[in-house]
Amino acid sequence: CGIVGYVGTQQAQGVVIEGLRRLEYRGYDSAGVALVADGAIASDKRAGKLANLEKAIIDAPLPASTTGIGHTRWATHGAPNDPNAHPHLGRTGRVALVHNGIIENFASLRAGLEAEGHDLLSETDTEVAAHLLEREVLAGRDLTEAMQAMCRALEGAFTLVAVDAEDPDRVVAARRNSPLVVGIGEGENFLGSDVAAFIEHTREAMELDQDQVVTITRDGVAVSGFDGTPAEGRRYHVDWDLTAAEKDGYDWFMRKEIFEQPRALADSLLGRRTPTGELQLDEMRLSDDELRDIDKMIIIAAGTSFYAGMVAKYAIEHWTRIPVEVELASEFRYRDPILTQSTLVVAISQSGETADTLQAIRHARVQRSKVLAICNTNGSTIPRESDGVIYTHAGPEIGVASTKGYLTQLIACYLLALYLAQVKGTRYGDEISQVIDQLEEMPGHVQTVLDRADQVYALAQEHVGTRSVLFLGRHAGYPVALEGALKLKEIAYLHAEGFAAGELKHGPIALIEDGLPVLCIVPPRGRDQLHDKMISGIQEVRARGARTICLAEEGDDSITPYADAMIRLPNVPVLLQPLVAVVPLQLFACEIATALGHDVDQPRNLAKSVTVE
Ligand code: G6P
Repeated sequence: CGIVGYVGTQQAQGVVIEGLRRLEYRGYDSAGVALVADGAIASDKRAGKLANLEKAIIDAPLPASTTGIGHTRWATHGAPNDPNAHPHLGRTGRVALVHNGIIENFASLRAGLEAEGHDLLSETDTEVAAHLLEREVLAGRDLTEAMQAMCRALEGAFTLVAVDAEDPDRVVAARRNSPLVVGIGEGENFLGSDVAAFIEHTREAMELDQDQVVTITRDGVAVSGFDGTPAEGRRYHVDWDLTAAEKDGYDWFMRKEIFEQPRALADSLLGRRTPTGELQLDEMRLSDDELRDIDKMIIIAAGTSFYAGMVAKYAIEHWTRIPVEVELASEFRYRDPILTQSTLVVAISQSGETADTLQAIRHARVQRSKVLAICNTNGSTIPRESDGVIYTHAGPEIGVASTKGYLTQLIACYLLALYLAQVKGTRYGDEISQVIDQLEEMPGHVQTVLDRADQVYALAQEHVGTRSVLFLGRHAGYPVALEGALKLKEIAYLHAEGFAAGELKHGPIALIEDGLPVLCIVPPRGRDQLHDKMISGIQEVRARGARTICLAEEGDDSITPYADAMIRLPNVPVLLQPLVAVVPLQLFACEIATALGHDVDQPRNLAKSVTVE
């Protein structure tokens, strides 16, 4: 969900709605706003996208106000209808509140309220919080004290933002295991789920710790613990601006982000070598001694980040000889994983807020393993709770389906692998330098692929009517096949599956029927028998009627007889090929989804960062 709060001198309605627009990628099942005007709360909320709320407000304008809160929802408790949308009001309508997360003990709290005679209008845990908060205010506490008191009684994960009709210049928020940042302006202050909410107004931000309450007024920001103890937030400057959060002439953020990849890769590689040519990872925070002790690694992640982790396994094991497991974050702690002090757990998360991944690293830390985060969001929870971090520098990723986030995660994984190889001495300086040189050529190679986007678009157009698409890969191309299929599922709502080409004959080949499109990622020539084995796999599916679309390196003519269509890739080493091979698959999915008339940036049922388990 996306959350916004504002107090200042501008009209809050405009600031809040604009902030919600920039956060809409976090959830778009419903949207709502509440303002404090003339000693009362004025509020509106609507099921569906933000546009529905905006239309409602045009038809029935809200009063002028300089204090307000807003919410855009990804439904958890209760269907995405008008009553369940946020904000929720207290019993007398004096307090309005928005919420992200899940209050786990809400059933007992609700029962308590109902026993006191409270009538609850929605099925949400949020309305329970609104009633509880207002009860504290009616008992004589100011909104900040009321929030502290209420939070002490809540269990679960939550970000809460509230206003009190009788305290018009104050917005109060709280967080536990759910994102919230403060935007610091002049004569105005902001709250948001992430900095995109206020980047148009200020690039000065403040991050908060777990279990803190923050109060913003026009001229001040005050932070405290749930017990009221004063605390300090950490101020930082946001190193990107509004243009990064706009479409800039593209039809979709996703397409823009695909085309930003050369830049994002270059930024993620910047400053990683010392003048003497050694690899350095500045923000890493783990000492070389600690890294030398590592004898096992477990990579945990969700969605696209998980597929980056699968690629990383090939590179890390090859270069460092450290055994690597890759595990879905949501599964990790439930299988009672074997973790020791010499296990390095690597959590990959673009947003840094995915609840499944966060809970997994907490489990790992309790077992005293070291945790390293690979993350794109400065100051987010996962890197803050990790022992070390490698930040990717993709800039804000707004399209719900991850693209530049994924490519920069791959870069971070390669850098980590090389760094471990350097520290452990499993590879020598020259070889490491050579791979870094190759990495530094990758932005140019990705650009070459992008320059040929029209060819991919034409192929995509030919396949708009298809019901199902398969993807085949081997070795590092296998996770690319999975990621290609995921992109198509996410935004084109097509049945798509990725397979390890060698596994096909053990079952999935039964799916092949006449004309079924199969995208095949052909490994570069010249290493083991990988390439030739892939060609056999392609022959097998083609013999059974598949329409083969082959992604193969420039000059590889051995594939031509078996390819119904060909997408050429630059010549790169097999371990780095995912960086170039995934790009046509992103373009393919984006084009098909666009042709089908889908909202590519906000696909149905999904949200950019899922902050509930
Ligand atoms: C959500 C998004 C996916 C993303 C996954 C992991 O499900 O819809 O696109 O890959 O979360 O996100 P993270 O921010 O942890 O990388």
